[in-house]
Amino acid sequence: MNRPFPISNGRKSYSKPAEGLPVGDAVLNDESLKTDSVAYLNWDESISVDGDIVDADHKSFFEISKVMIESKLSGHHELILENCLSMLEDYVTGHFNREELAMRAANYPRLYDHKNKHDQFRNRIRRMTSEYRRGDKSAVDDLPALVVSWFRSHIVTDDVPYKGWVQSTHWDKRPLYFLMPHEMSATNDDDGVEWF
Ligand SMILES: [Fe+2]
Ligand SMILES: [Fe+2]
Repeated sequence: MNRPFPISNGRKSYSKPAEGLPVGDAVLNDESLKTDSVAYLNWDESISVDGDIVDADHKSFFEISKVMIESKLSGHHELILENCLSMLEDYVTGHFNREELAMRAANYPRLYDHKNKHDQFRNRIRRMTSEYRRGDKSAVDDLPALVVSWFRSHIVTDDVPYKGWVQSTHWDKRPLYFLMPHEMSATNDDDGVEWF
C-alpha cells in the first residue's frame, strides 16, 4: 500500500516527502489522517491509568487534538478551531482539578510537583490561545502536537505513579463541566484551586 507521507513510528518508515503537520514522529496531512499513521494521535491502552474516568478525560484531549489538525488541514477551520480551543481550556482545567482533588484526598506526596506541571501546561495553553485571539493565527499551529506529546509524556511520568495512592473512592466522577472553578466554588467553598 503506497503511503504519501513520511513517518517513523518505530515499526515502519516511509521515504516520500510530504507537506503536513509534525506530530510526534509523524508528519500528518490529509492523506495520512486516513491511515494508521495517526496512531500517535490516538489514545491507547499503553497509557491507561484507571480504565475509567481518568482515561475518558485523557481520550478527549487526543480527540480534540485530532479535530484541530483536521480542521487546520481542511482549510475551513476557524470556527471549529475556536470551539476546540474553548473546549481544550475548559477540559484541561476540569481534568486537572479532578486529579488534584483526588491526589489531595489521598494525601499523595507528589501532589505539589504534579500540580506545578499542570499549572505550567495550562498557562502555556492560555498564552497560545490568547495570542491566537489577539490576531496571531499561527500561534496555535503547534498546539495539537503539543497537547498530544505533553499528555503522552505526562500520563506515563506523572499520572500513572499516583495509581497506587488514589483509590476509586477519592475521585469526583462528575462530568468535567462540574469541575470548572465557578461550579466548584458554587458547590463547595473548600474546593478552591489555590492550595499552597
Ligand atoms: Fe496529571
Ligand atoms: Fe491526567
